[in-house]
Formats: sequence, structure tokens, C-alpha cells
Amino acid sequence: MTRHLITSAIPYINGIKHLGNLVGSQLPADLFARYQRVRGHEVLFLCATDEHGTPAELAAKKAGKPVAEYCAEMHQVQAEIARGFRLSFDHFGRSSSPQNYKLTQHFAGRLADAGLIREVSEKQMYSHADGRFLPDRYIEGTCPNCGFDSARGDQCDNCTKQLDPVDLINPHSTISGSTDLEMRETKHLYLRQSAMKDQLEQWIDTREGWPVLTTSIAKKWLNDGDGLQDRGITRDLDWGVPVMKGDQPWPGMEGKVFYVWFDAPIEYIACAQEWVEAGKGADWERWWRTDKGAADVTYTQFMGKDNVPFHTLSFPCTILGSGEPWKLVDYIKSFNYLNYDGGQFSTSRGRGVFMDQALEILPADYWRWWLLSHAPENSDAEFTWENFQTSVNKDLADVLGNFASRVTKFCRSKFGETVPEGGTYGPREEALIAALSQGLAAYQAQMDAIEVRKAAQELRALWVLGNEYLQEVAPWTTIKTDAETAAMQIRLGLNLIRLYAVLSSPFIPDASAELLTAMRAEGAEWPGDVAQALQALPAGHAFDVPEVTFRKITDAEREDWQVRFAGVRS
Ligand code: 2FM
Ligand code: ZN
Repeated sequence: MTRHLITSAIPYINGIKHLGNLVGSQLPADLFARYQRVRGHEVLFLCATDEHGTPAELAAKKAGKPVAEYCAEMHQVQAEIARGFRLSFDHFGRSSSPQNYKLTQHFAGRLADAGLIREVSEKQMYSHADGRFLPDRYIEGTCPNCGFDSARGDQCDNCTKQLDPVDLINPHSTISGSTDLEMRETKHLYLRQSAMKDQLEQWIDTREGWPVLTTSIAKKWLNDGDGLQDRGITRDLDWGVPVMKGDQPWPGMEGKVFYVWFDAPIEYIACAQEWVEAGKGADWERWWRTDKGAADVTYTQFMGKDNVPFHTLSFPCTILGSGEPWKLVDYIKSFNYLNYDGGQFSTSRGRGVFMDQALEILPADYWRWWLLSHAPENSDAEFTWENFQTSVNKDLADVLGNFASRVTKFCRSKFGETVPEGGTYGPREEALIAALSQGLAAYQAQMDAIEVRKAAQELRALWVLGNEYLQEVAPWTTIKTDAETAAMQIRLGLNLIRLYAVLSSPFIPDASAELLTAMRAEGAEWPGDVAQALQALPAGHAFDVPEVTFRKITDAEREDWQVRFAGVRS
């Protein structure tokens, strides 16, 4: 038994995430967590909401609520939707937790003691009307590059050019609209990532078998231009973790908070503390401290490609720089983007299908299956309604669902709702078992390697083997001349339904549970040996014909959804 610490990138608190966000971190992380658990390993699977920064403040303002109240509410909303998608977090924490405040301040103190933080005086936009500095998204103006009139202080949404607030033409405060702005001196803390460059590079160079997407992004940032840049880790904001050096005040930093990207990954650790605090676990240190048992933990992180620099460089810099024995990540699984019907999913523009909407129209398994079997691993992928309809109807309804339904219904009508005895296996059954054993090994290999798409293909291939067998041996014909053999074929088929339920559980947990219940299967152990697993339900074992496990998506529904989700969500 091995121990797996698994984290998904923590979603921003401002609003409900779209399917592109889901498939880039939480969903594949859940797949892996479920797989490791069903294989009998010990798993701690953590996620949380990322609650600081300007996006949270601005969203709260728009909702007309105090930011703390807004975050508490949105956390509940996101937690509920995560349950709807069957994301099996051991704990879904909050980056605004007291644990994260304390730990973030602790790390800052350690880094300062190690000489890895420097204070920088810089000029930033100050608004007289608002009585505050205006970071990032608090300033808008005309883009000097394309003329777009609502470019933000950090980036133009129209032409994507990275901007500095001073670049904007006619800048104004997005809080008050005031144009009475001036550049004013303010002091900030910078993490001296440049001083850690060699150590980070050496660490990345010695990671074996990491996805190319992960290492290429890390290397690009390590060696871009002048090399790894120091990073500002504080902001002039009210909402966030107050800047402190451990539990001591930080002279000159009063009223400032840490930058959201400094405290967010620290929440991975704080979340384990929250898990203990919530009474769900006894000891967080054996997952996170290498001096307290975490040395034999395998730690895997899941994230979209835009998050890679923070996880390969900034967060490791925090961990290594602290000089304390924290667990470093062992494997970073990153994803490209999922596009939506010829364009991009976009939260700010409300384009695409959002997690709550998806669950309103179809059960979680349908989405889980499509998203995971089309995960944007080697390149960006695209969601289209046609592809979604075809894939769900074929894979789930025609292949898996149909197999379960034909076997159970045929059995009920000919032998009743108990597993029939029948004769012994012949060469066709032995061949099936050999093919299933081979397929199972291939499936496990892809799951172990976190090759999500390939794993889905292997699982589907296992379902197909059963269908082909059934089609070929045709018990409905056999029974006319040889009831004994037909009974054996059906006994095998019923056992295969149970086996499919076990093997499919990481991808489609609800359908899997439904099939196991229908088969009245006790326990759902991962098979060591296929032939043996196919004897789990002995002759005389009672079962129920499952309800329709998967229904087909009709053309009318597809057309309806296509129109319904073509516009933007307000
Ligand atoms: O990109 C995002 O959605 C960020 N909220 C991810 C943060 S992951 C981490 F560092 F905790
Ligand atoms: Zn522009």
C-alpha cells in the first residue's frame, strides 16, 4: 500500500467554473484519487477555494456584499456543485482560513530570515477619491496597443497585451470612476526567486518522466530573457492575508496583504490542517512534513497550463527557501485548454457551459465521461455538442449501458433474477478472459501514468470486448438448442457487469454504484485476476435488472442545447 497526496489547483472564488476549468484540474485529480483508493492505496485528496485578490473583491462589490460574506456564500455554492460532479475531496478548504493566514505569515517570516525577501520602493497608481492604491484590475483605460477602451491595469482583454497601469490612456478607477490619480511611492516585498534559480533548475532537471507541457513551461520561465525574475508578493489591498513576519508585525508593511498567488498554494498545506480541524483526519504532518512520515508519500498536483509557473517555480521557491522539511511535489500533471464550439470558454464573458448548468441538463457521469475521454492533454481540445452527443450515445448507451441491459433482461426472462449455473467455460470464454486480462493491464498502466485519454480508451476497449462476446455467442440463439451453455454465457455476462462497475468507478462513479447495487455485489475490490473476479457472483446469487443506466441524447435535445448555450451567460 502506498500513500498518495493529491491536490487540484484551487478555483477562484468569483463565480461558478466552466467545464474547461473542471477538466483542467479538479476532474482529472478526482479520477486519479478514486483510482488510487479503489486500488487499495491511502489517499489524501485536497482542494479549496482561492479567495483573495482583486477578482474576489470586485466580484463581491458587484454582488453588493461584503467580501467575507460573498466568499463564504460562494464557497458553499462551489462545494455543492463539486458534490454534484462527485468530486471526492477529502476536504474542500478555503484559502481565507485562519490556518492559511498563519502558515502564509510563517513562510514569509522564514523566507525573510533566509534573506530571500527584499523590500522595494516603487511607484503605483493612487486614487485620491478612493483614498487607496489601485492595483491590477482596479484601473481601466484605453489600451495603447489596440485602442480598446476597457483595458485593465494588468492586461488588455481585447488584444491580450500585458500592461502596466501607467501605459493606459485616460486611466480611471473602477471603484469610483475617478480620474484624479497620481503615481505615488509605495513599499512592497519581493521574493528573490532569482537567488534560487540554480536550485530550482537542478530540481526540475532531475524530475523524471514529467509531462513535456510541465517542464517546457518551467524551463521557459527559468531562462526567459534575463532568467527567473523576483516576484512581488504583497499588494495594497484590504482583503487578503495581512503582511506579517511570522507572528510579528512587519514594519512599513502595515495595511498591506500578501499577493493572492503567494498564499494560494500554501493553502494546499493549510487545507490538510483544516481537514484535521474538521475532525476528518488525525495527523496532517504525516502528509506534509518529510521529517514526520511524509517522505514516503507520493505527491501529485493537477492544474491548467497557466498555473504551471507558479507550481514549478514560485511555490517550490517558497518551500525550498523556508529551509524546513516540507514535502515537495513529485509529479505535476498539467493540461492544455478546452475550447467551446469554435471559440474559448470564458468566465468573464460568460461563454460556454458552466458547471451548474451542465448538471441541470444531464447527470454528472455523462459529463465526466466526455470530459475525461477528451481531456486536453497533448493539445487544446474542443467541446462540440455533436461530439458530446455521439460520444455519450455510443460509449455509454450503446456499449456499456446496452451490455448491462441485454444481459440482465435476457436472464430475467429466461432464468429469473438469479445468476444461473450453466456449464463450464469453453475456448471462446477462455479467449475473452485472456483479452480482458491483457486489456486490464493496459488500462492500469495508463491510469498509473495519468494518461487520462488513453486510460478512457482502454476502459472503453474492455467494455467493447464484452459486447463483442455477447454478440458472437448470442445466448438468445444458443438457448434454443443448449440451455446449459446459454446459462453459462449469461453467468459470465452478469459477472462481467460487476467487473465493469468496479473498473469504471473512477470515471463514472454513479453508474458504477448503480450497477453494483443492481448486481447486489458486496465489496468492489479491484481484480487481481480476471478469471477469479468473474466468479464473484456465484450461481443462485440474486440480482436486479438496473434502471436505464444511460439514456441517449436526442437530436432535438442537442439542437436545443446548442441554441441555449450559444449566447453569453449574464
Ligand atoms: O488559476 C486559478 O484558478 C487559480 N485560482 C489557481 C490557484 S492554484 C494554487 F496555487 F493554489
Ligand atoms: Zn489592447
